Parts: sequence; structure tokens; C-alpha cells
Amino acid sequence: MIDKINEIRAELETLKAANAAEVEELRIKYLSKKGAISALMNDFRTVAADKKRELGQALNELKTFATERINSLREEAGSGNSDNSGIDLTRTAAPVRLGTRHPLSLVREQIIDIFRRLGFTIAEGPEIEDDWHVFESLNFAADHPARDMQDTFFIGRNPDVLLRTHTSSVQTRVMTSQQPPIRIICPGRVYRNEAISARAHCFFHQVEALYVDRNVTFADLRQTLLYFAREMFGPKTEIRLRPSYFPFTEPSAEMDISCNLCGGKGCSFCKGTGWVEILGCGMVDPAVLEACGIDSKEYSGFALGMGVERITNLKYQVKDLRMFSENDIRFLEEFTSAH
Ligand code: DAH
Repeated sequence: MIDKINEIRAELETLKAANAAEVEELRIKYLSKKGAISALMNDFRTVAADKKRELGQALNELKTFATERINSLREEAGSGNSDNSGIDLTRTAAPVRLGTRHPLSLVREQIIDIFRRLGFTIAEGPEIEDDWHVFESLNFAADHPARDMQDTFFIGRNPDVLLRTHTSSVQTRVMTSQQPPIRIICPGRVYRNEAISARAHCFFHQVEALYVDRNVTFADLRQTLLYFAREMFGPKTEIRLRPSYFPFTEPSAEMDISCNLCGGKGCSFCKGTGWVEILGCGMVDPAVLEACGIDSKEYSGFALGMGVERITNLKYQVKDLRMFSENDIRFLEEFTSAH
């Protein structure tokens, strides 16, 4: 019997288990009522009286040893571990929280996508500009208020280094570097010296479009605007053009769309008028074409510019412009489903 005890002890010493189920199998094999150690306990009854003391002790030690071994194997195996490293590879992974795209990026992409379908390609220009590209080439008179410190951020003391106040500067960057046909869309950030409030910010975003070719007419502009408005705000949208003034377009207009909240009936959002203003536009002033080296007798063009914040507000009714730049995760997460 002592041989059998030693044999089982040696077996126990080399035991290995890959998981909890295997540990349980081993427990049954050695420690259950039908296990190897119980069988020895049964045999113990028939052992000669003078051997009982010695064998009884050895048997008890074996049982304690077996229990310890099984317990430590169980700990190693953990709850279903397969590699004994203490990491539960079968556990479901913690959910990865997806970020959301910024509402201004979403709307900018939508605007670009609509114009891309009409054959417009993206053009970009610098945010730090010179007077010529932002004002002079675009027909701004020398005493135009936009050139004032009150409205424009100048960099340092040099009046010729400034932050662009509109993306129209990209028009002249492109027109001075290539001849028509030109069909570009220019998204970008612009800066104005405004006190920050719910309704104004010192930086915001615009998208400019410019089309210059032979025989471009106001009808082309109007049709492009109608297409854009309906793609952006739905097929029932109507547009209205009101005469306006911009130094770089002649004639100039401002475009309203039928209020996208009440459908034109009149509500608090459109102040009862049924219309909301969305952008400025016009036929490129021949003087601008000439300043950029494009023959205004041969070519004509239209231009339009809109604020991305404005369009986003119309689509999502964001009440406070500051929300766009505060990075409040609760605000940004509201746009998860808008993707
Ligand atoms: N640059 C104008 C602004 O910042 C917007 C604008 C109006 C752009 C008319 C144009 C345009 O291209 O034709 O208010």
C-alpha cells in the first residue's frame, strides 16, 4: 500500500490542467467518493493493525496534498483561462466608444459633395493673407469699413498681413494662377474682429463657389442655387433672390430659402416671414476678372459664399454659436446619428 501512496503522490506532483473543467476531472479522479484516494481509504480497513499508524498518517498526508494541489490548479486555471496567465480571454471586450464627426465637418462635407456633383473641385488658400487677395483685388474701396481694425485682425504692425475675413480671397488666388474654365469650391475658416456671443464669433467657416467660363449667366447661377438648396434642404425647398451689394459682384444678390422648419408658412424661426437668408452671391464684377488677368470681354462668371455655421444652424437649430468651438462631448454626441 505504501507503494501505491507514493505512486499517487508522484502523479499529483506532475499534474497539469488547462482550464477549470480539466481541474474538475482531476478532482473527481483523486478526491471524489469513487476516486483513487477513497479507494485507498477503503483498502486501509484491511491493513494489519501494526501498520495502521504509519499508513494512516501517510494516507492523511496524501489526501491533504491532493486537496492542496487541486486547489492550486483551480486558482491557476482561473475562471476558464486557457493559458493560465490570469487573463480571461473568453470575456467580452469592453465596448469601444466611437467618436463623432463635428457638425460643421458634416455640413461642410455635404455642401462640398453637392457642388462636386456639379463638377466643382476643391481649392484652398491661406488663412493668413495679404490685403490684395482679401480686399484690393475684390474691388473693396480704400476706405471700405472691412479694412478697418474694428473688423479685421491684422498680424503685427504690418497692414498687409491679416487674417482673411472671407474665403473670397481664394477666388483671386485661383484666378491669378489659372485661366478659365474655373469651377471651384473653397471651404475654409475665416476671422473677424467681433465680440464673442451666442450670435457672433471671431472665427467661423465659409464655403465659396466660383464658376468662370465663356457665356456664364445669371440663369446658371440661379439654377445652381436652386439645385444646391433642394439637395441640402429637401426637394420642396423654394429659393428667393433679393438684390444686394458686394464689391466683387455685379449684380449681387442674397438668397433666401423657404423656411425649412415651417415650410414657408411662417413661424418664430423665420420671424413669420416664411423665408430664411442663407447666402450671398452674384456675377463676378468684370473689374475683379481684369485684376486677376482674365479677359472680361471673353469670360464671365458667378460666385457665391455661405457660412457653414449658418447652414448648420438651419439644419440642426443650434442656438448658440459658441457650442461649435467648446468641444462639449454632450453636444458633439448629439450628431452621432447624423453621419
Ligand atoms: N464674401 C462674402 C462674405 O463674407 C460672401 C459672398 C457674397 C461671397 C457674395 C461671394 C459672393 O462669392 O458672390 O460675406
